[in-house]
Amino acid sequence: MNIHYHSYDAVIVGAGGAGLRAALETAGNVRTAVITKLYPTRSHTGAAQGGMCAALSNVEEDYWEWHAFDTVKGSDYLGDQDAIDIMCREAIDAVIDLEHFGLPFSRTPEGKIDQRRFGGHTRNHGEAPVRRACYAADRTGHMILQTLYQQCVAADVNFFNEFQVFDVLFDGEGASRRAAGVVAYELATGDLHVFTSKGVLFATGGYGRIFQITSNAHTLTGDGPGVLFHRGIPLEDMEFYQFHPTGIYGIGILLTEGARGEGGILRNGLGERFMERVAPTVKDLAPRDMVARAIHAEIKEGRGAGPDKDYVYLDLTHLPPEQIDAKLPDISGFVRTYLGLEPKTDPIPIQPTAHYAMGGIPTNVHGEVVIDANNTVLPGLYAAGECACVSVHGANRLGTNSLLDINVFGRRGGRAMVEYVQQVDHPDLPRSVVDPTRERIDAMMHSSGTEKVGTIRSELQVAMMRDASVVRTGESLQEALRVIHELRDRYEKVTIDDKGSIFNYDLTEALELGSLLDIAEVLVLGADARKESRGAHWRDDYPTRDDANWMKHTLAYRDESGAIALDYKPVVQGRYEPMERKY
Ligand code: FUM
Repeated sequence: MNIHYHSYDAVIVGAGGAGLRAALETAGNVRTAVITKLYPTRSHTGAAQGGMCAALSNVEEDYWEWHAFDTVKGSDYLGDQDAIDIMCREAIDAVIDLEHFGLPFSRTPEGKIDQRRFGGHTRNHGEAPVRRACYAADRTGHMILQTLYQQCVAADVNFFNEFQVFDVLFDGEGASRRAAGVVAYELATGDLHVFTSKGVLFATGGYGRIFQITSNAHTLTGDGPGVLFHRGIPLEDMEFYQFHPTGIYGIGILLTEGARGEGGILRNGLGERFMERVAPTVKDLAPRDMVARAIHAEIKEGRGAGPDKDYVYLDLTHLPPEQIDAKLPDISGFVRTYLGLEPKTDPIPIQPTAHYAMGGIPTNVHGEVVIDANNTVLPGLYAAGECACVSVHGANRLGTNSLLDINVFGRRGGRAMVEYVQQVDHPDLPRSVVDPTRERIDAMMHSSGTEKVGTIRSELQVAMMRDASVVRTGESLQEALRVIHELRDRYEKVTIDDKGSIFNYDLTEALELGSLLDIAEVLVLGADARKESRGAHWRDDYPTRDDANWMKHTLAYRDESGAIALDYKPVVQGRYEPMERKY
């Protein structure tokens, strides 16, 4: 195996929206490498559809404080209010930045950036839905990704495309430990690359692939959280995983909430608009956790549609056809391609789909990774975007706050990393830092086991979907844990067929599976311990929110032996006192 050594001031892992936005801050200031397992424009930001919110007040009265209130309430009071204030206040600049970068937003007739409704976004603290989501038809994420990538190319950002990071490097021990680089595997050659650097920012996205039905691409395997967790960095609030209400039935591909923002309606198998019962004020535009649970209830209580009564409908048939063409062209194409239906005339079968991780690598508002309940910073280590937990989304993210999060905290993380790396010396690491990765790869290449990656991964996804998704109980979580432990044992005996060095996805998928298993276990342990229902974490056996005991963030740690321990830290409270979540 060839090994190459590189030296940079800053390394950014991941080239989705958060990574690219961070790179725009570092480019031209400090020597930066962006390492990405995909070609940048294939990153999953490109799959985000409906919008990025900011209280621009372009089409109706709005204030960032209303946005902050909605975000806190949407988070079921688990979001940190200092971070939420920052995100909602800086949202306006973040959108204007993108406009100046050339992003082709949809426009009002007067030429302003148009805005549409989205779930949980309201005027004046819950009175009625408000138009807050800035959008580019139903391909907002695609436009953000392309725009940021073009800016990065213009800024001469140094990309290492199709390089997968398998380890993070540290300099020093204990309290004097600082981040010092990463080890990456070059997909085209099978070579290993050691990048030493003063700062490392992880922006590797989500891990929806722990579930069977997901809107996430095959590549979303929790690589950043997996690598850091393995090296003793905790993970925060992993039990809070969002199911988007409208995934295409059976395959999970996202149909944007923007469809309901444009007036689309959810109907059960009897044709009823069931969200009127659940959220009388905002109806189909309730937050996702509530809508996903309502769909689950319709199906469980026998009011689903189809031969097995296991889906409901997204109904757009009452919308003007020209509105569908102008505002929802991509999802219309998906419905035609994957279901053979015409969204202008046919109701669309949908089901909740695993969509977004609220939890992740714990950070402060500067994107610095924090490693304990006292928020101690690990110098030189940063995270932003879905892989991070700031925590602005708490127990449930509002739609369009994710494209916002990557822009605001990508920018903040990039800026903070520039400031830091300009002050510190370059780490001096022995060449042997590559050894653990080389040994892992060697072991996988020469394994004589009989277990297959695809089989273990499928069984994990089925178990997580059945036992740890929209609705959970102690019993279901114990069953999920039993399956994960069994799969872990079998993972020890996993083998791969491809022994080559060129684009060996057999190998990379085998290593990714290790992260998926770790993350699934952390999610289930956190969910089992949390004896309440809050946001996306719903326990049928504890169906109420318990602020007295559980208004706190979970931290999960892995020790040297691989055992996982849980700890907790307080939520940062602010102007908005917890109240009952009615919509
Ligand atoms: O429904 C959507 O367009 C998804 C948006 C989001 O997750 O923020």
